[in-house]
Amino acid sequence: MSEHITATAHTNIALIKYWGKENADLNLPTTSSLSMTLDKFYTRTSVAFDHQAFEDRLILNEVEVDPGRVHKFLNIFRTEIADFGPVRVTSTNYVPTAAGLASSASSFAALTGAMSSLLKLDLLPSQMTRYARRGSGSASRSIFGNFAIWNKGEDDETSYAESFLNEDIGLSMIVAEVSAESKKMSSTKGMQLAQLSPDYAGWVAHSAQQLEDMKGALLRSDIEQVGLIAQDNSLAMHALNRTCPEPFDYFTDKTRELIAFVEDCYKAGLLAFVTIDAGPNVKIITSRSQESSLLARLKDNFPELQFDVAHAGPGIQIEA
Ligand code: PMV
Repeated sequence: MSEHITATAHTNIALIKYWGKENADLNLPTTSSLSMTLDKFYTRTSVAFDHQAFEDRLILNEVEVDPGRVHKFLNIFRTEIADFGPVRVTSTNYVPTAAGLASSASSFAALTGAMSSLLKLDLLPSQMTRYARRGSGSASRSIFGNFAIWNKGEDDETSYAESFLNEDIGLSMIVAEVSAESKKMSSTKGMQLAQLSPDYAGWVAHSAQQLEDMKGALLRSDIEQVGLIAQDNSLAMHALNRTCPEPFDYFTDKTRELIAFVEDCYKAGLLAFVTIDAGPNVKIITSRSQESSLLARLKDNFPELQFDVAHAGPGIQIEA
């Protein structure tokens, strides 16, 4: 086996969501998106050429698993850069299953960083984001710490992510784990169906305005506006899922209870807003100074749920 290269990438949560593909092969999105990278959840991935193996191997959380998606991703480098032999990928997700967060963003970002170093590609961060994007769209944003924008672009070259604000503005995210009562639908399939909603074009147009408003709110460290815009954008994304020809819903009763509770907290004067991705779990946006009082209320009202608190986290780290 050759030398190991290890990279660590943190997961990110979109404040302005990616929910639709212009081109599914290249993961070119219908809208630009903006996210915060989280300190608490990350993936650490090592890669090495495996001269004894006949094919790529993936050891995930200490268990050898089907390398299908990783193999497909490595083939992009084989086709576009240079052919190379089997690679052993050893990856650990420090994303507690209890938090119910998807790990594809941190996984493909870490794998991109590790592979670019193993292949001695010397990529610019923007080039790295383009490879990560092809593994999983949201992975493009995990190359950067704090706040990142993935510019939708028009083709492979122009669809890349960049740092928007490399500063911790004191935003907290409380992640509530809601047990998955509903059947899971992949984000790819969910997007495909949502794009058939009669409201889809309206969501796309509104998202462009929300992105501009979000940028302004972040630059002013205006957490109330950040929360209000993120909440609107996310709830409208989920409304698309219910209005497409084959309606579906990621929410469970518990998701809806949490949304109502967070709304009541806001009405009572707290900074409290929700953002929800392709699953029933709820991420609650608040400020660092109100985080502990909001967390105490959540724990009192939902003693059956587990909560994790996350703040802004770092960009990709590659160990030579
Ligand atoms: O990167 P994907 O294909 O797993 O899609 C992510 C989709 C959302 O998490 C719902 C939104 C986003 O922008 O991260």
